[in-house]
Amino acid sequence: MSPAASSPTGVLELPGLHNVVSYRGSGAQEFYSGSVPEGDAGFDALVALGVKTVISVDGALPDLARAKARGLRYVHLPIGYDGFDDARKAELVRAVRDLPKPIYLHCHHGKHRSAGAAATVAVSLGWMDNAEAAAHMKRSGTAEGYKGLWSCAAKAAPMMSAAIDAARGDFPELTRPDSMVAAMVAIDEALDRIKLVEKNGWKVPASHPDLAPAADAGRIADLLRVLDGDLAAKPAGEPGRDAHLGRLDEAARADFRALLVRNAREASELEELLLGGDAARIAPAMKALGAGCKDCHVKYRD
Ligand code: HEC
Repeated sequence: MSPAASSPTGVLELPGLHNVVSYRGSGAQEFYSGSVPEGDAGFDALVALGVKTVISVDGALPDLARAKARGLRYVHLPIGYDGFDDARKAELVRAVRDLPKPIYLHCHHGKHRSAGAAATVAVSLGWMDNAEAAAHMKRSGTAEGYKGLWSCAAKAAPMMSAAIDAARGDFPELTRPDSMVAAMVAIDEALDRIKLVEKNGWKVPASHPDLAPAADAGRIADLLRVLDGDLAAKPAGEPGRDAHLGRLDEAARADFRALLVRNAREASELEELLLGGDAARIAPAMKALGAGCKDCHVKYRD
């Protein structure tokens, strides 16, 4: 039995790898979903699992240097939190069918996008039925709110070889994100760093002396403002490189921009408080910032 399948919950936690769930527990053919491998520990854990191919469905650029140093093949095929189209599905199915196994498929946290993709691929290749796929996503911890991901897995059906063969087979090791995804990834990384300080009672932890939460809050505000500026400069209805925004009509676009501006203001407020404002207001400001991210994602992303 595979290490993930034999753990009591079916979920493995390894050094630098989280939420590891097997979507095909059969030794050399194993197919895992999990979090992004963190640093040397994460990549060493992949090697210890025997993994040969790593597939990322996350927007962030993969750590190709660490993968190559260990002889691992990387494939980067990002998907959204709202699911993915048939072309991306077929590419993922083909990659998992054709590339050396065991295969580790990851997003950032290993709960939502990697699980939705792994479940869809496993059904498409005839390895499990839709009910088993949903049970596996539950095990990975996929949130109910990601309806597009659940629906991809629910609609999946075994694919004919000819349809899989027709998919793009160049398996890129790097897919440049569009500007929206790249900015969001940077925003998320900055917020994660602020959370480390939050966890330590809003004091920079001795273990991470390099953290600068006010600067990170300012960086978030900047990035959100830059996105708003991009939108202002781009004529409405022009898809540009941001597939999401091309679909928005005039009114939705204005609403989207208002949410960006509001969120930027929340980030600036947090920045000012962290620079020496009323300490009692820091926690509520952090909460407001997080709520600002969520309000937009619920409406325009998930
Ligand atoms: C005004 C809307 C809006 C706001 C505000 C917003 N986001 Fe986003 N975010 C989006 C959209 C739209 C996407 C999907 C982009 C795509 O896939 O094309 C996204 C995607 C993301 C992603 C996924 C990136 C990937 O790997 O595909 C993360 C992480 C993220 N946002 C974090 C945040 C955080 C953290 C905040 C708040 C500090 C935030 N966002 C604020 C609209 C927003």
